[in-house]
Amino acid sequence: MENISRNNIPRHLAIIMDGNGRWAERRGLSRNEGHRAGMKKVEEILEACIDLGVKVLTLYAFSSQNWKRPRREVNFLIKEFERYIDEEMDKLNKKSVQFRVIGRIRVLSPKLQEKIAKAMKRTKNNQKLVLNLAINYGGQEEIVDTAKELIRKVKDKVFSLGDIDINLFRKYLYTKGLPYPDLLIRTGGEYRISNFLLWQIAYTEFWFTPTFWPDFNKDEIIKAIDSYKRRERRFGGLKSRIKGLED
Ligand code: FPP
Repeated sequence: MENISRNNIPRHLAIIMDGNGRWAERRGLSRNEGHRAGMKKVEEILEACIDLGVKVLTLYAFSSQNWKRPRREVNFLIKEFERYIDEEMDKLNKKSVQFRVIGRIRVLSPKLQEKIAKAMKRTKNNQKLVLNLAINYGGQEEIVDTAKELIRKVKDKVFSLGDIDINLFRKYLYTKGLPYPDLLIRTGGEYRISNFLLWQIAYTEFWFTPTFWPDFNKDEIIKAIDSYKRRERRFGGLKSRIKGLED
């Protein structure tokens, strides 16, 4: 399954990593053990993306709505993010991966915020791939935050109301400076977006798989990319090869 041509690889791949809980339940394990297995999977998928030539990988790790889960599970996940930064940052840096976090970071613990800031600063010049981790992320929340930021700028007379258009708006999203996702994969068998990257996915191609996230692998990414390559992206126009919105 390895012989995939390197042409037309999605530049930005976004993944909704769903199914940790069900993966664990089927094995008689706790949900947290499912999350631990899910976290282990991240390294393998990151490697696969580097190998395939993906330039931005955005992973939905914790949504603004995930706080509704039992406290034990929420605490576990937050601890796992801290552990991930502690244990993986050297490795990411060696691989020239730039680490970023998107979401309402300001409500996380000061300790976690500090770790995130340090990791982002340390890896900011890395060029191989951007790993964009969505933590306390909601697409609607992001649009509201962006609108507020723009209102502030208008009030401060940085620009006027008439200056606000799609291009200016995107410059104030959490994903500023990144291309929009070309391909979005959701594992775990559900067919919904769950408040992920609502603005950015206007013309994104989708791939859904029943595979639970801890069982996901490089062969499946290749399958998804193969399907992506056969699609004609028109961005609302008529012919293929219309320049992407990000260009
Ligand atoms: C969805 O599965 C998964 C989550 C809410 C957490 C995702 C987090 C990870 C995979 C860990 C990654 C961490 C880092 C730092 C990269 P679910 O619990 O909703 O599964 P279910 O639908 O089967 O219950």
